[in-house]
Amino acid sequence: MTQTTLSLIPDFDLSARNTMALQARSRFGLVLDAPEEVPATFVLAAERGLPLRILGGGSNVVLSAEFDGITAIIAFKGRRIIEETADHVLVEAAAGEVWNDFVAYTVEAGFGGIENLALIPGTVGAAPVQNIGAYGAEIADVFESLTGYDSVTGEITTFSREMCGFAYRDSVFKQQAGRYVVLSLRLKLPKPWQPNLGFAGLSELAGRDDLTPAMVMAQVIALRQSKLPDWRVTPNAGSFFQNPIVNPASVEPILAEFPKAPNYTQPDGRLKLSAGWLIEQSGLKGFAMGPAGISERHALVLINRGGASADDISALAGHIKATVKARFGVELHQEPVLL
Ligand code: EPU
Repeated sequence: MTQTTLSLIPDFDLSARNTMALQARSRFGLVLDAPEEVPATFVLAAERGLPLRILGGGSNVVLSAEFDGITAIIAFKGRRIIEETADHVLVEAAAGEVWNDFVAYTVEAGFGGIENLALIPGTVGAAPVQNIGAYGAEIADVFESLTGYDSVTGEITTFSREMCGFAYRDSVFKQQAGRYVVLSLRLKLPKPWQPNLGFAGLSELAGRDDLTPAMVMAQVIALRQSKLPDWRVTPNAGSFFQNPIVNPASVEPILAEFPKAPNYTQPDGRLKLSAGWLIEQSGLKGFAMGPAGISERHALVLINRGGASADDISALAGHIKATVKARFGVELHQEPVLL
């Protein structure tokens, strides 16, 4: 086995490593530049008797101010086209690649399949954990396999799609949080490319015979930029709540009052509601509690107005949940992980 040297960084500052820009420190930090360092990190943490948490781009987390353990950043990069056949192209990326860079790489190489997922913040390794999705597409649609380190068995395993248990914003990696670390991801992009233009805002591109993945990607980027605040300007963690999936009976009173309330029938007959709509109708769009606020542009996005802590964000999240529950009887579930 190759010897890996890990150098712990004391009093590790994470303020610039989370998109909510929360002030956060960890007793020790590690920046992992190779997948081989992942197993070694678990060994080191066990030897030192310290808790360990793994971070990618820090775009789906609410970081506590202090962590008395090791925070390891997945920073290993690499991407390649593995094979191209008549009916598909296989592409692979290491977990530390920036997701949007990987999207741009495939599109620039002329391949479509993930252009609807452009500009989603975070890393390749985090993408399958919450089965990222946007504009009618999710990563599960084109997933081929991934390699992951299992911290319980100490093995590196190849996961097929079936093993991943993908669902709306969900996977086995999220269900068993802390157990697996994604090391690399493989996608199978089908050929010929079929644009996915079902979503409002993209349908205007339908019918064009000169359409390319790059054109769809540009439209997705324009749509996101028009709707969602940029975390570099207004720190945020994207959608703060999942869109709730509820029984039709519990939606009846909402539809009786608001016949146009957004709702989408799921394969199992339940209805997905729009959390952003519920929050806005509860009168909370633009609402602030001290340094934590709700975006004026999109009610599903919680923002750090300057100097917010995890406690400030959690207090606001609790207020939103209670208000929406009291107004509509609907339970909201937080998407970013409290670490
Ligand atoms: N809406 C409001 N008020 C708002 C925001 C939205 O009434 O302040 C209504 C909209 O008018 C629309 C509906 O809510 O009828 C849905 O809004 P939008 O199209 O913005 O999408 P979303 O359901 O809020 C989801 C994903 C986003 C993804 C978009 C686009 C979740 C939790 N969020 O948002 O993902 O970009 O669709 O496909 O599924 C993320 O997960 O971080 C994320 C940004």
